[in-house]
Amino acid sequence: MASRLTSLKEPFLCFTLWGKRNAELRRVSMTSTIPSAVAKVETPKKLFTPRAVHVQIAHSLPPQKIEIFKSLEGWAEENILVHLKPVEKCWQPQDFLPDPSSEGFNEEVKELRERCKEIPDDYFVCLVGDMITEEALPTYQTMLNTYDGVRDETGASLTSWALWTRAWTAEENRHGDLLNKYLYLSGRVDMKQIEKTIQYLIGSGMDPRTENNPYLGFVYTSFQERATFISHGNTARHAKKYGDLKLAQICGIIASDEKRHERAYTKIVDKLFEIDPDGAVLAFADMMKKKISMPGHLIYDGYDDKLFEHFSSVAQRLGVYTAKDYADILEFLVTRWKVGELTNLSGEGNKAQDFVCTLAPRIRRLDERTHGRAKKTTAIPFSWIHGREVQL
Ligand SMILES: [Fe+2]
Ligand SMILES: [Fe+2]
Repeated sequence: MASRLTSLKEPFLCFTLWGKRNAELRRVSMTSTIPSAVAKVETPKKLFTPRAVHVQIAHSLPPQKIEIFKSLEGWAEENILVHLKPVEKCWQPQDFLPDPSSEGFNEEVKELRERCKEIPDDYFVCLVGDMITEEALPTYQTMLNTYDGVRDETGASLTSWALWTRAWTAEENRHGDLLNKYLYLSGRVDMKQIEKTIQYLIGSGMDPRTENNPYLGFVYTSFQERATFISHGNTARHAKKYGDLKLAQICGIIASDEKRHERAYTKIVDKLFEIDPDGAVLAFADMMKKKISMPGHLIYDGYDDKLFEHFSSVAQRLGVYTAKDYADILEFLVTRWKVGELTNLSGEGNKAQDFVCTLAPRIRRLDERTHGRAKKTTAIPFSWIHGREVQL
């Protein structure tokens, strides 16, 4: 399945090469600064080597378009902030976990561990990967605050955009928290390896190529919220199949948050299509050409230089998140934003429209072709589950 993803050269691939690039970077820095004879023997690894990223483009949205977001302040208050839930009405991780202050805590933990005993390792690899992705939340808040015209300028700004970003972050914060505590109590995973991976990932950041540009940024977040809605929905479905209804409920409740967030972000892009159809379709096509990289694409555990590729392969094989899902999301957004119905576009806009409207079937065809090829069956060890091997 790994070969299937690597050969797809489509949705997931912009990030599968980082291990190689990173190795190249390390090689370059070693030969340029240290005599080769010494380097071969005892050059210590840098304490922290950032993952390799694309050439970075900054501030690609012209100032007059940044003004659009300032003028949408009132609109965002009425149309976007309504998708947040008041804290008092939100679920909290503790609602789904054994209560450590109750007499029955030990018993509840025992039951939890019994319930997930029969769940296979490959499922845990997916759940851990999803949890680690959620836990890198500081990166995503940083990302939102890179976007010109909508960033939280002070850390406590009262603009609608800043209120949204902080409250969205606060809602998202419960996702990693809940999955982390559940996995800790399950006893099925190597928490220290997982914690190291989270630290590496937050330290690495992410490279979605959104160029400080809220047009690109909100296309990206629309896509990503739907992707997480799908993958958490699938882990819920699988947990139910394995008989852990509590875990199914946990994944399901997280998925419903993602769906609500998807509504908000797609609504922002709706508005951009209404005000500036040409700019919006160009942004959509630009992101799809670059391919939507997953937020955890720079994941590393200190051992496996191809960890993201391996995690993605397991997710693909189990049907937690697949190339087909990627094509479905794209198609959903094309329909949601009525891209096919746009008229009076510029020449470039027309090309962008054609590109996004015909892309999903092309991705599916490519996926079917690679699906039909003979697959190598490889199993590799995952540090997250104490080095036990899982089929890719
Ligand atoms: Fe989330
Ligand atoms: Fe989300």
